[in-house]
Amino acid sequence: METIILNGSPRGNNGNSEIFIRQFLKGMRTHCDVKYMNKENPEELASHVKKYDTIIMVLPLYIHSMPGMVMRFIEHLEPSAVHSKQAIGFILQCGFTESSQCKYVERYFSCLAKELNRTYLGTVIKGEAAGVYMLPKFMTKKLFTLLNQLGEMYDQTHTFDRRVMEKLQQPYVLTGFTLKFMQFTTKLGANKIMWHRFLKKNDAFHKKLDQPFA
Ligand SMILES: Cc1cc2nc3c(=O)[nH]c(=O)nc-3n(C[C@H](O)[C@H](O)[C@H](O)COP(=O)(O)O)c2cc1C
Repeated sequence: METIILNGSPRGNNGNSEIFIRQFLKGMRTHCDVKYMNKENPEELASHVKKYDTIIMVLPLYIHSMPGMVMRFIEHLEPSAVHSKQAIGFILQCGFTESSQCKYVERYFSCLAKELNRTYLGTVIKGEAAGVYMLPKFMTKKLFTLLNQLGEMYDQTHTFDRRVMEKLQQPYVLTGFTLKFMQFTTKLGANKIMWHRFLKKNDAFHKKLDQPFA
């Protein structure tokens, strides 16, 4: 069973999707090819992936959807032959805490698998991932262990393990104390501290209320 992993982040091998891919591959014994959508011609890449049994796309959520280059690539994909055993799966990670905001893309991916006549492995979703690249080791340990397990189980069974998926997508929605705590810290402005630091570092703090598309 040959698998190709496609990195769908415009940040390519410098982003969080790449970290997810590396941790997934760490759990696997079988070799997988990896390609970067930001470096490939979408038409050529769509033709190249035809020969693989399985495509796994690892991508970030952008504006409640997917990066434009992923959409462009998808538009070039052709359905597999009838009765083919080819499969497709997705690993979708995003910045905000509640992974439920990935649900629209998840639905789209499940329809896409049908359109492409490929078995749908599912969409692994993970919220709170924006800081992964800069978090200390102890804060990413749980996530990386789950991604290693996901890769290991995929290697053995050619499926995404439902229990690991369930753990990764927590919290799906915020409730109870965590929700109240987040609402409280948001009111205090604590959620903006990090963003303000980035804006200042890039000399863009004075533009923080600009509305270029309004
Ligand atoms: C242009 C842009 C739009 C984004 N939109 C969302 C969003 O709608 N919801 C969300 O949770 N995160 C959003 N994010 C955060 C990314 O999903 C998150 O930082 C992700 O880890 C980036 O992965 P990458 O480094 O592989 O590109 C956005 C980031 C960017 C740059």
